[in-house]
Amino acid sequence: MDLVEGSSVVITGAASGIGEGLARECVNRGLRVALADVEKAPLDALVDQLLAVGGTVMAEVVDVSDGAAVSVFAASVEAEFGCVDMVVANAGVIGPRQPLWEQSAQDWEWIIGVNLLGVSNTWAPFLPNMVKRGTGHLVATSSIAGLAPAMSGNAPYATTKHGIVGMAEVLRMDLAEVAPDIGVTVLFPGPVRTRIREAVRNRPDSLGGPDGVAVFSSDPQFDVESIEPRDVALHLLAALARGDRYVMPNSEYVESTATHLVEVAEGLRTSNTADPTR
Ligand code: NAI
Repeated sequence: MDLVEGSSVVITGAASGIGEGLARECVNRGLRVALADVEKAPLDALVDQLLAVGGTVMAEVVDVSDGAAVSVFAASVEAEFGCVDMVVANAGVIGPRQPLWEQSAQDWEWIIGVNLLGVSNTWAPFLPNMVKRGTGHLVATSSIAGLAPAMSGNAPYATTKHGIVGMAEVLRMDLAEVAPDIGVTVLFPGPVRTRIREAVRNRPDSLGGPDGVAVFSSDPQFDVESIEPRDVALHLLAALARGDRYVMPNSEYVESTATHLVEVAEGLRTSNTADPTR
């Protein structure tokens, strides 16, 4: 993916953390950015800062779990920017940390809506014009939890992050038939210093509402190993320039994740060579 000065990038979940870090780095490089988030105040503050450094920026309050709202946003971005070069479906949430049998149906619905449907809602409205042109790039933020078990207590989150991988693989197959030059990249961050653990601040009232107490408690080791949002942005942009499909910015997690994937492959081979009649 060649992003050059003036290229246009859409980023969801842009008001904080990884999305914000990516927006800042894109503006540093002279790219035009269209930002979406549910949190108006930090989004407005970021836009002011990016405009102050000469950025070309548009932004709207959009809930990515609402497909119709994302489509309206996509239409306004295309009207303003014309061609959209890259779409980064980054918005994501995590619920309170608890075992699967204690996860509420509302939290499943919330997390699937934002993390999984939010990705297809974000990608889909931009794809018709990309396919017509035959160019463009789609990115989604998964997680190390989308490839290997990272920690207990986050079944809905891990489910959605695995789902993003499947969605991306099939989208690549869909595109191979009609627009093979359109790229699809999945980002797999490990721990990053952001506000993700306070994600319940954005849980809608219809699904249980915000909860200031239910902060996701992660393992202390994650704090030690956390990297900065800007590191993620630098890794992602470098990987895109190389044409990488899978990007893991936290080097500590590459080998443990790869080992898990090899174990899965070995498990498949072993089970298939066993005698099914015994
Ligand atoms: P963050 O909480 O700092 O930023 C997430 C942003 O998404 C916030 O600005 C929030 O307002 C926005 N958002 C939440 N619900 C939304 C909705 N329905 N529609 C639109 N925007 C919404 O968290 P972070 O870490 O920057 O999260 C970004 C992505 O990175 C997420 O997909 C997350 O799952 C993923 N990730 C984060 C890791 C970490 O350690 N921070 C590790 C692995 C993946």
